[in-house]
Amino acid sequence: MHRGNGIVTGPRGVGLVGLVCWVVAVACGRAGTGPMERALIPRPAHCVFHEGRHVLRRDTPVHGAGEARTEARQLIEALAPAMGFRLPLVGQEPAEGISLALDGGLAEELGGEGYRLRVDPRRIELRAARPAGLFHGIQTLRQLLPPEAFSRRPVAGVDWVLPCVEIIDRPRFAWRGLLVDPARHFIPVEDLKHFIDAMAVHKFNRLQLHLTDNEGWRLEIRRYPRLAELGSRNDWTHLWKGGGRTPCFGYYTREDIAGLVRYAAERHITLVPEIEMPYHAGAAIVAYPELGVNTAGLADLPPEKRWRRTHGLLAPRESTVRFMQEVLTEVIEMFPGPFIHIGGDEANLRVWARDAEMQALMKRLGLEGPHELHSWFIRQMDAFLAGRGRRLVGWDEILQGGLAPGATVMSWHGFAGGVTAARAGHDVVMAPTSHTYFDYYQGPRDKEPPAIGGFLRLERVYAFDPLPPELTGAEARHILGGQGQLWGEYIATRDHRDYMAWPRGCALSETLWSPRGRRDFTEFRRRLRSHLEGLRQAGVGFRPLD
Ligand code: ACM
Repeated sequence: MHRGNGIVTGPRGVGLVGLVCWVVAVACGRAGTGPMERALIPRPAHCVFHEGRHVLRRDTPVHGAGEARTEARQLIEALAPAMGFRLPLVGQEPAEGISLALDGGLAEELGGEGYRLRVDPRRIELRAARPAGLFHGIQTLRQLLPPEAFSRRPVAGVDWVLPCVEIIDRPRFAWRGLLVDPARHFIPVEDLKHFIDAMAVHKFNRLQLHLTDNEGWRLEIRRYPRLAELGSRNDWTHLWKGGGRTPCFGYYTREDIAGLVRYAAERHITLVPEIEMPYHAGAAIVAYPELGVNTAGLADLPPEKRWRRTHGLLAPRESTVRFMQEVLTEVIEMFPGPFIHIGGDEANLRVWARDAEMQALMKRLGLEGPHELHSWFIRQMDAFLAGRGRRLVGWDEILQGGLAPGATVMSWHGFAGGVTAARAGHDVVMAPTSHTYFDYYQGPRDKEPPAIGGFLRLERVYAFDPLPPELTGAEARHILGGQGQLWGEYIATRDHRDYMAWPRGCALSETLWSPRGRRDFTEFRRRLRSHLEGLRQAGVGFRPLD
C-alpha cells in the first residue's frame, strides 16, 4: 500500500533489485518487469499498480444499488460501443465482477467527487460518498482498459484487460472548468455533447457557455424573442471587414437547453450560462436598439445594417436594468446550477462618460463616474440573482468601482484580480490569459490553423497553479479552481475546437485535479502518448504532440 502524497512503497515479497525496478517503473509511468500499468490523466492522488490483471468478459456482472445503479449503467453504456456487448447489470452483489457502491461514511476522506477503486483478478470495487465520485472513478476505470475502450465502434480482437491497482483519489479544486463560445460561432448541440463527453473523461465539472456577445445572441428568451431571432443572424461581414469566416447562424431553444442541462448533469458537469453585460451586448442592441447608448435612428435601419453601429455597450437606464433582469429570470429557469455569469468585461466606459444622458443618470444616482456606474449596474444584477438563490460570476473588471457583495470573480488579467478578490473574502476562479487561453496559438503561426494571437504551449498550461503562494490559508479557500477559455472568433468547427482544446485541456485537468506534488511535465508527457490514443479512438481531433 502507498502512504502520503505521491510516495509509494513496494509490494511485499520482492527483493531489493525487484523493488528498485518496480519503483522506477512506477516513477516512469510505464510497464517494466513489474506490474502492468496504464497512463491515467488526470493523475490520481494515490495510485499503486500491483501484479496481476482483471479481464472483462461478456458475462462479467456489474452491480450497483440505488443511485450507484445509475452510475453502473453509465459504465456499461460507456464500454458497450467498443466492446460490442453490454455487461450484465445484476441485482445481487456478485462475488466476482464489478461492484459500485455509495458509502456516506467516506465523505470526509473523499469529499463529494473522490472515489476509491480497487482492481484485483476477481473483483473490481468502486466506492464513493456521492454519485459524482463514482462517475469520476468510472472514467479512471475506462482509462485502465486498452485505449480501444474509447472507440465508438466495436473493436475485435482486443482483450479487455485492466491491471490490478489500488487508487484513492479526490480533486484538488472544486471548479474545474472550460469555456466555449457559441456567441461568435454557433456550436450545434451535438458538438456540445461531443465536447462534454471529452470533458467528462478528464473529470472537468463546469462548462461555461458564452451565449451572448457583440457578434451573436444564442439563447431563446420568450419575453424578448427578437434577441434570438435577430441577434443570431450575424454573418461576421457585418462586423469584421475581410470576412472569410464561416456563417454562424443559430440559437438554442429552451428544449435544446433542457436536453443539454440533462446531458451534462448525467456526466456531473454543471453548465454555467454567461449573459454578457453591460459591454459585449451588441447583438442585444441590434435586436432592441433602445437598450444602447445614443442609438437614435438605429431602429430605422434594417437589422443587418445595425451591427456596426451599436458600441456594444448597454445604457444602464432603469428600463435596461429591468430588461436584463427579465432575461436573467428566464436564464434561471433554464439553468439549474448555482452560478450565473454576467460577463462585466472590457466596457469602454468613455462611451458613458461622454454621453449627456449617462452623465445625468450618474448624477441622479449620486455616482462619481463611469466606474461607479459600472459597479452600480453589476450590483443590480448581483442583488437580483442573490434574491433568487443564485450567485453572480463576473470577469475581473467587476472589481473596478467596488465589488458587488455576492460576486465571484473570474480572474483573466493574470492572477492579481483574483488575489484582491480572495483577500476581500470573495470566491475566485483563476482563468489567466497566461495559462488558460486556449484560443491562443500553440505552435509556429505558419504551421497552425488561425488563432486569435498569443502563444500558449502545453508545458505552460501544465505549469498553471490557480493558488497564488502569497495567499494565507483562509484566503486560499476562496480559490475555487481554474478554467480554460476557448473563445470562438476563429473556432468555427468541431475539429478546430478539439484541436485547440486537447491536449492542453489534458494538462489543465491535471493542474486542477491532481495534488501539486504529483505533477511532473516529463512524466505527464509520457502518459499523454497512450492517453491521446484513447482520445483518437473516441473521435476527438486533438493536436498531435510535437
Ligand atoms: C475576456 O477575455 N474578455 C474575458
